[in-house]
Amino acid sequence: MIQNKRILLIIGGGIAAYKSLDLIRRLREQGAKVQALLTAGGAEFITPLSVSSLTGEKTYSDLFSLTDEAEMGHIRLSRESDLILVAPATADLMAKMAAGLAGDLATTVLLAANVPVMICPSMNVEMWNHPATKRNMNVLRKDGIQVVAPAAGDLACGEVGQGRLADVADIVKAAQFFFDRPGMLTGKKALVTAGPTYEAIDPVRYIANRSSGKQGYAIAAALAATGAEVALISGPTSLAVPFNVHRINVESADQMLESSMAELPADIAVCVAAVADWRAEKAVEHKIKKNGKNPPALKLTTNPDILQTLSKSGKMRPGLVIGFAAETENIVKNGQKKRGKKGCDWIVANDVSPGTETMGGARNSVHLITDKGIESWPEDTKEGVARALAKRISEYFQKEPV
Ligand code: CTP
Repeated sequence: MIQNKRILLIIGGGIAAYKSLDLIRRLREQGAKVQALLTAGGAEFITPLSVSSLTGEKTYSDLFSLTDEAEMGHIRLSRESDLILVAPATADLMAKMAAGLAGDLATTVLLAANVPVMICPSMNVEMWNHPATKRNMNVLRKDGIQVVAPAAGDLACGEVGQGRLADVADIVKAAQFFFDRPGMLTGKKALVTAGPTYEAIDPVRYIANRSSGKQGYAIAAALAATGAEVALISGPTSLAVPFNVHRINVESADQMLESSMAELPADIAVCVAAVADWRAEKAVEHKIKKNGKNPPALKLTTNPDILQTLSKSGKMRPGLVIGFAAETENIVKNGQKKRGKKGCDWIVANDVSPGTETMGGARNSVHLITDKGIESWPEDTKEGVARALAKRISEYFQKEPV
């Protein structure tokens, strides 16, 4: 419950700073107590007066304010909240946090903080994709900082891409989840498969698919945030390892199966990977050369089905096995069939038709198919779907007799 929780909102200097005003209102609507700290950059976009009018509290902005320092203002500020939320988190602020700098009130509070920190990055798409920002994100994730990923779309600078501050409603949901779910899966072990698999044809060529791994990584992160010990068996992706998640890198379906089985016993298995259904019958040792006119015939053989193997692993079977169904037509019906065929407990069926954002994009719209029926969830970010699934999984274990 977010009600009565004390949130310190640090407002960075980006155009999205104006959205922090709406964020304050929405957090307060849920019963949170919000205190705000406006960086010098943030104050270029919005005024302390508008922030204070919405929080109903004094807005902090100056490290060297004598009255506050007399009471050790920055230390007190970093101690008195249940969560520090940084929105918008600019590339500059993230870089300073990653480096441990403390040159102003915001960074000093963040460095002195002994409470959880959640950041909501917002910046130009090139800045977001810059290797320096990626490096900083990795450092921040490793430091245990929660991240509400930016959304894709039109950016204030006129460019298009990922970098917009996440929707205010999504930030509120992320904060709510943070307060609702801590520790509910403590003591449970989860294994999650994610990403594509690469099936070698020869040393330079392979069969693969368009999976980005985002949904699987988001699920691993949500389960870890809910207290589970998480092993993420991942095909090749460019994603950072989520906080508190143990990642095992694999390439082929065979390796993914072997690594998944090695993680048993586990309480929960969530198979999100887009495993290649087939591989070359024989991956040849040397690069296939163009000899003559005819292209070489590619003889395929079927890959092992990891979800099915886990579902039918007898005594070693995880207590709750969840699969995904990537469908382009008759989504629910095919999902139901898949649940029966694979022998898993739940299926999360999603539409991967061209035009949907599912494969590689940031959003997902899913149907949860269980023995009790079908639930169609509203379209959400992949992080939102992951949190909803982690919530359902923790409810399942709360109801289970031990
Ligand atoms: N899966 C798996 N191993 C495979 C193939 C699929 O573990 N070799 C898992 C996926 O991770 C997913 C589920 O099975 O959880 C369904 O995957 P999907 O691609 O939708 O279905 P397929 O089994 O490939 O069936 P089809 O191609 O007929 O749709």
